[in-house]
Amino acid sequence: MELPELARHWDAFARSDPLWAILTAPDTRGNRWDPQAFFETGRREIAGLLQLLEELSLSPQRGIALDFGCGVGRLSQALAGHFERVVGVDIAAGMIERACRENRHGPRVRYMRNERGDLACLPDSEFDLVYCNIVLQHMEPRFAKSYIGEFLRVLSPNGVLCFQLPERRAHAVDPPAHPASAPAHSARPAENAHADTDVAGPSWQPRMEMWGTSPHEVERWIASAGGVLVRRVEDSAAGPGWLSHRYVVTRMAHPRHAHSSTATPSTTR
Ligand SMILES: C[S@@+](CC[C@H](N)C(=O)[O-])C[C@H]1O[C@@H](n2cnc3c(N)ncnc32)[C@H](O)[C@@H]1O
Repeated sequence: MELPELARHWDAFARSDPLWAILTAPDTRGNRWDPQAFFETGRREIAGLLQLLEELSLSPQRGIALDFGCGVGRLSQALAGHFERVVGVDIAAGMIERACRENRHGPRVRYMRNERGDLACLPDSEFDLVYCNIVLQHMEPRFAKSYIGEFLRVLSPNGVLCFQLPERRAHAVDPPAHPASAPAHSARPAENAHADTDVAGPSWQPRMEMWGTSPHEVERWIASAGGVLVRRVEDSAAGPGWLSHRYVVTRMAHPRHAHSSTATPSTTR
């Protein structure tokens, strides 16, 4: 999907069942998420993120954080508990509208719509933390690659970038022994949850694409954008059917991790 079409699908989710579209627990479909419980998941996630950074001896300034693909602000609101200011960016107008209604932190949290494949709306070297969870998996890898480059551009020199991307379906065959020989785009679209055969007709349903990209490829993107991988951690954010990773990245080598992040793959596997 091109970005305008992606925006249209996410906007439709935002206007029909936004909390379920963000966290697809089956018993919450049909606007059955309790908003308090939903936002509590964000607080737990950000507490876990900060704990991970502490374990990695990374302590970004607590000035300004970027939440890319912010949805209704589940994570932006939680980040505001730890950072002076938060900027949430999303492609879907409906998500941004709901995020503004849910904002409990006044002007400390600002939401912006961005339909572009870059973040030209944001200045260089601004953010102490750039966070992106369960977003890049829903777009073609060429867009994810471009955004990762932009995350590093807007990251402050001592800032920390953390993003998540799946590798592949958990039950897929093992990747080749030499990942470098895999196709440049080792991404596969998932089976779609909804048919999209009648895009213009009344039966049109929004759908989510799912894409996986090999860590080898993602690590090449990071390096080519001037990032240093501090740690790659397997995670479950993409759901039980997917093998997924969280990447923690800085702009400069962190002395304690410089060796492990360059000489050996930084993986928990
Ligand atoms: C599964 S939701 C996750 C929302 C939020 N990160 C969270 O965890 O609560 C994915 C979000 O990414 C947004 N999104 C998808 N593609 C995007 C893009 N190219 N730029 C910005 N936001 C995007 C969608 O509109 C949606 O709000």
